[in-house]
Amino acid sequence: MHSLFSYITKSYFYKPFLISRRHSIHLAVNTADTPEFRLSNFARVARGQMAAARAGARGILPNPFTIDQNCDPNAEFRRINGTCNNLQQPFRGAAKIPLERLQNNTYEDGVESPTRTFFRSAGDLPSARMVSLVVHETTSNLSNRNSHLLMNFGQFTDHDVTLSPEANAEGGEEESPKEICCEPNSARARAFSTVEFSECFNIPTPNDPFLNDSCMPFIRSAISPRLPGAPEVRFQLNDLTAFVDASQVYGVTLNRANSLREFRGGLLRISRGLNNEERLPPRRDNPPDCFTISNMECRFAAGDSRTSEQAGLTSVHTLFLREHNKIVRELVKLNPTWSDERLYQVSLLHSTFLQIYCLYMHVLIV
Ligand code: HEM
Repeated sequence: MHSLFSYITKSYFYKPFLISRRHSIHLAVNTADTPEFRLSNFARVARGQMAAARAGARGILPNPFTIDQNCDPNAEFRRINGTCNNLQQPFRGAAKIPLERLQNNTYEDGVESPTRTFFRSAGDLPSARMVSLVVHETTSNLSNRNSHLLMNFGQFTDHDVTLSPEANAEGGEEESPKEICCEPNSARARAFSTVEFSECFNIPTPNDPFLNDSCMPFIRSAISPRLPGAPEVRFQLNDLTAFVDASQVYGVTLNRANSLREFRGGLLRISRGLNNEERLPPRRDNPPDCFTISNMECRFAAGDSRTSEQAGLTSVHTLFLREHNKIVRELVKLNPTWSDERLYQVSLLHSTFLQIYCLYMHVLIV
């Protein structure tokens, strides 16, 4: 991996960006940070749209996807939320827009309720858990060709391009209270006054060979307003940009991106490990002292909230963090007058090229 990183640093992709010239850095507007793009507002607007469609009327709340993006065709750097990458269709591929359907929906009611039957005459579909138990088996099938890095890079790439947030889980964070879906009358459930239990779609697990409980909590994906002109049915959204743009490293909102920066020399924030090595910074919501107490769950902060989902994934994130900081240290030697902002933006561009290079040259064509 290291030689790959060095290769791309020197590649022809990168050289044009080392030329020092005036740039207009375009960071001012960032739709994904604004209240119209919060999941709670999305749910309100989307429900209003569907109710209005049933009544043969127009939705009364403003659709966030009609907000003018005022794209600047001369902007030197892209916006972090992916709007205006396509000047004709500014929302295309941007963070927090509805997922596109390649096939017609199969909602039970044709509008929003989940499929329960395949052929109505055949009764309810089997439990998803039962299908999983029957279909999946645990076998060992070692590859002579690919290391575990292939899988980790795959997950890392997925976390650049898709995150379908769950209902009630603002910002795609993992603290969604889905566990309480199976216990709606408990004290814990009552504490979450804002949870909409209509969004729970639990999986029955009676007589399960591995699980004691007879209910597996499951919550539906968050609901999204539809893009203008789209069919009047329930849509789900992508919390991230659809572009391979290293957003799992940098984030898709200015709030998140800024929280990861030093605002000095273009650097990203780091923490130090036991051997003084550069690590990802800790998440602000970690329990106190969690890294020193072995049985506490500590998580690292990065552009995507799933960074600490498993250690291999965290390692790839760490490589990209170190690469960003290595590049800005080199850039500043070549361009001592560059601002923090310019160093950060050019290194971000480099990370994007690096990821695209690894993906297309070493993963997809092997
Ligand atoms: C140890 C490895 C992994 C674990 C523990 C894991 C875990 C998960 C979990 C818990 C979800 C959310 C499921 C839900 O919404 O209910 C998920 C979603 C997903 N995973 Fe993984 N995953 C792993 C590896 C991978 C790999 C290697 C890839 C691709 C190469 C991948 C691609 C995806 C995708 C595309 C989604 C859907 C994302 C979305 O739109 O929300 N995962 N994974």
